[in-house]
Amino acid sequence: MSRRAGAPARGHRIALAAAAAWAASTALAQPLPYESDDLHLGPATCATSVCHGKVSPDETSNVLLNEYRTWSNDDYHSRAYNVLRSEESRRMAERLGLGNATTAQVCLDCHADNVPVERRGEKFQISDGVGCEACHGGAERWIESHAEEGATHQDNLARGMYPTEQPEARARLCLSCHVGTEHRFADHDIMAAGHPRMSFELETFTVNQPAHYEIDEDYVRRKGEIGSVNMWVTGMVMKAERQLALIRSERFEGHGIFPELAFFDCHACHHPMDALRMHSTPVTSGLPPGMVRLDDSSFQMLLAIADVLDAPIGERLRERTRDLHRATARGRGALQGAAGELDGAVDALRRFVAGHDYSAGEMRRMRELLLARAGEGRYGDFTSAEQAFLAVETLSIVLDDAGAVASVLDVWFESLANEHEFDPGAYAAAARRVSAALN
Ligand code: HEC
Ligand code: HEC
Ligand code: HEC
Ligand code: HEC
Repeated sequence: MSRRAGAPARGHRIALAAAAAWAASTALAQPLPYESDDLHLGPATCATSVCHGKVSPDETSNVLLNEYRTWSNDDYHSRAYNVLRSEESRRMAERLGLGNATTAQVCLDCHADNVPVERRGEKFQISDGVGCEACHGGAERWIESHAEEGATHQDNLARGMYPTEQPEARARLCLSCHVGTEHRFADHDIMAAGHPRMSFELETFTVNQPAHYEIDEDYVRRKGEIGSVNMWVTGMVMKAERQLALIRSERFEGHGIFPELAFFDCHACHHPMDALRMHSTPVTSGLPPGMVRLDDSSFQMLLAIADVLDAPIGERLRERTRDLHRATARGRGALQGAAGELDGAVDALRRFVAGHDYSAGEMRRMRELLLARAGEGRYGDFTSAEQAFLAVETLSIVLDDAGAVASVLDVWFESLANEHEFDPGAYAAAARRVSAALN
């Protein structure tokens, strides 16, 4: 699992400009970069030394202008195509009968900017991996104008630049590869062929992507500033919505009598038989022993958030999450219906939290609740355990006491070091030590 790389969190206040942008972003759902009709010109187009290819940051410009360097030297996205050339990928493709991973559509969709050939400009190269335009949108209509004197961010957006600064839009973008969509998805076949399990949390991954931008005064004036807690909550809401949409889509059809297994808690099946770990099953899902549980880690996080912010939404989420679990014991139609109901509850929370200004008291109560539930053993499945840790870490950084409890946080993180040997008891005990250290 990837933990936050240690960069400081951004304060919990959202600047006014960001609140306005937020409102605008919920009104219109921009097409994702791969969905729009614009040509993708390729990173080489952005990389010259007068543009984004400088060796070090440019003091005179409002953007750094060495973005290409950061991306090509330090960012995993520039290597995403190259990993398809690895021995690991070769074996994966062979097991899946895909031929070569570097030409398999299913791999390229997430490991490159795989727009159709007719939407690729002259300098476009698929081997550039997840390039600038895979996130910022095809540059055809803004490549000239965005560098002109007086061009505003709004002008760029109107010409097809993707609003990566807006939390919901960013979440949709990152999730389109880090969780998947109906069109691109790493299913259990791909997992069983050797693909790493996907794990995503927007705030942590935002911090962990080597920054090719600087949130300074000028940035905040142009784009606003989104607090870390807003990023975490928005990411979790959007991830839950994405999972529910996928459960309701054709993606849920697996093979033969089995549904798509990638929607379930991996370790519900993949754990040794001699370790009886009935932990979270009865408490959170209301399912009898032996049922394969859906991965409900995002819903568990939303519950802790809503229980603090708005009790009725929290109650609705709790009931609908339980209904979702129970529906897996009834059949596919029942499950998809329950997913629709839960989606309604998640959407109520999404509207509640859009632009919400979190008080220190709210953040403290969320952290207490997460730690209390972790300490009671409620996050007994690895994915929820992992998400609860990341949430507590982010909240502690923003509340500015992460340093004071660093050693107990480290011990807690250690209990997540190996998902195959995850011991829910040790995890819960380590959570209780964090609680104790904070009190
Ligand atoms: C839905 C998007 C998606 C699909 C489809 C997909 N991948 Fe991935 N892949 C990812 C993401 C995201 C990661 C990074 C996971 C992480 O670290 O959280 C990744 C990681 C990997 C890694 C590990 C990379 C490393 O640095 O260790 C390999 C190897 C890999 N993928 C190969 C493949 C191959 C081969 C295919 C096609 C059979 C494929 N992937 C299909 C999204 C995808
Ligand atoms: C994986 C997604 C991703 C990729 C790939 C990516 N960016 Fe970004 N970029 C972001 C995010 C997220 C931000 C921060 C939000 C924002 O300001 O829009 C950002 C911000 C920027 C900014 C704005 C800085 C400011 O002060 O307004 C520039 C310029 C930029 N990126 C250029 C590039 C270039 C050039 C490349 C390719 C060499 C690239 N980006 C690749 C996600 C990406
Ligand atoms: C077009 C697909 C795509 C998009 C969009 C995308 N990613 Fe990725 N991302 C990948 C792939 C594939 C990898 C794995 C690359 C590798 O390991 O070589 C990856 C790796 C990462 C990693 C490293 C993961 C680890 O385990 O260390 C981080 C962090 C990350 N992405 C953050 C983001 C963020 C934040 C966004 C949204 C702003 C985003 N990504 C958007 C495909 C994508
Ligand atoms: C409903 C039970 C179930 C769930 C849930 C499940 N799997 Fe599996 N998985 C299996 C079975 C059965 C096999 C085939 C085992 C074999 O071939 O020996 C398998 C095979 C695998 C393998 C290959 C193991 C090997 O020895 O070759 C991997 C890796 C894997 N799954 C990963 C995952 C991941 C990651 C998830 C969660 C996203 C997941 N599984 C969810 C049942 C499940």
